[in-house]
Amino acid sequence: MTTSPPEAELRQRLDRTVEMLEGHGQAHLLARSGELEPEALESLLDQIDGIDIPSSVRLMNEARSGGCATPPEDSIRPAKVVPHEPADAESMRARGQQLVDEGRVAAFTVAGGQGTRLGWNGPKGTYPASPITGKPLFRLFAEQLLAHARRSGRSIPWYIMTSPINDADTRAFFQDNNWFGLDRTDVFLFPQGVLPSYDDDGRFLLSEPGKIAVNPDGHGGALRALRGSGAIEDMLARGIEHISYFQVDNPTVQVIDPLFLGLHASSEESSGEISSKMVPKAAPDEKVGVFCEVDGRTCVIEYSDLPEELATAREPDGSLRFLAGSIAIHALSVDFIARLTSEDSELALPLHQARKKVPYVETSDGGRIEPTSPNATKLELFIFDAVPLASRSLVWETDRVEEFAPIKNAEGSDSAVTSRDLQFERAARWLEANGHDMPRDADGTPLALVEITSETALDRRDLAGADLPDAFKPGEQYIL
Ligand code: UTP
Repeated sequence: MTTSPPEAELRQRLDRTVEMLEGHGQAHLLARSGELEPEALESLLDQIDGIDIPSSVRLMNEARSGGCATPPEDSIRPAKVVPHEPADAESMRARGQQLVDEGRVAAFTVAGGQGTRLGWNGPKGTYPASPITGKPLFRLFAEQLLAHARRSGRSIPWYIMTSPINDADTRAFFQDNNWFGLDRTDVFLFPQGVLPSYDDDGRFLLSEPGKIAVNPDGHGGALRALRGSGAIEDMLARGIEHISYFQVDNPTVQVIDPLFLGLHASSEESSGEISSKMVPKAAPDEKVGVFCEVDGRTCVIEYSDLPEELATAREPDGSLRFLAGSIAIHALSVDFIARLTSEDSELALPLHQARKKVPYVETSDGGRIEPTSPNATKLELFIFDAVPLASRSLVWETDRVEEFAPIKNAEGSDSAVTSRDLQFERAARWLEANGHDMPRDADGTPLALVEITSETALDRRDLAGADLPDAFKPGEQYIL
């Protein structure tokens, strides 16, 4: 049989790829390639090239042969924490504001997650999150940036990491919403990398006959993606020195926090490389990572890895000894990211493994398997593993009600309902701090439901002297 040149090329490419896969124990991925139409085969070969099988297999083998080791228990101490109201707050806030005014700060949102727990049909950033107006998360962040820009007279670039799975939908959402009034050239969207999921025999899986099952490579993949997308070069060209890192699912995050940025860039406790906010853990078993110190370096230990004896240990005053819960808000210097991702430095973040259910195609007979229990492992990098790579990393205590109301689950804890309640509580506190009466029930829950827009106030201090209603009535809603 004679084949046309493109078919012959495709066949040669297939042969080369099969040979490469055989060398890495993954040839099953193409075992049924003869059943694929040429376009589907080409797309599978493209995917295989894009995944970089040799390095994915190396990462898988590293993870399978040990993964990340928890440090010995007796080497773990609580991290030092800068108190919520540091003595030099005003000068630090002024320093941070100066960085913003001089255009040396950018916002950075990680929005590449799969949001499986929330189960929202679309990128998480499109989820309606404000308690009365139902504004989507992306709009809330954009409004904060616009409010800051109005004050400093200078727009703040916004970098957003998507994933190959939600990149097109995220872009379309920004486009449809006219970039929320931001200058289009100040919004930089880029997708993160992916890693293949594998079964208990170390075999990558096909999610469809012509498609490998992959997952985004974790929020820690942000470092590589910032470099690979050209975002770092863009920041350097704009004179950006620090980025304000936050997750897409927290509507109360301060997208730009001058005091935090000032502490990060100027305080003695900080090398200005990576700094973090923490909130005191609500209970020993709260599922948040904990800031610790190991061998003189600050680090975050996942809740599942912190020995129970330490997680439950108490100080003489009854408070938890390992109290500093991570809320995934950081400031990072561009130089630090550039250093960690430079070509001659192998990115030293450890890999984390998580079990999950991955429907797949059985390559021996082509049958589709819908597992009822976890059958595969996904690999992820975590951003907080960059903390111990800094020479001195600052951890600053903040207030849970002020800036941690994540929407992660469809119901129960960390859901839209708990987030909405926290947003109402925060608004009530801001008003009370400015001398307004807020009706509350016997449990202390505010009875007037108030949403404060970023245009009105970015924090409680902005409400001083604002033109507000005389009284807030039980059962009424207010949008300020
Ligand atoms: P989560 O750990 O809550 O994961 O992400 P998730 O993927 O959003 O949700 P589940 O676990 O599937 O339910 C915390 C933050 O990190 C981002 C998410 O978008 C969110 O802002 N993230 C997570 C990424 O950007 N990439 C990833 O690969 C994982």
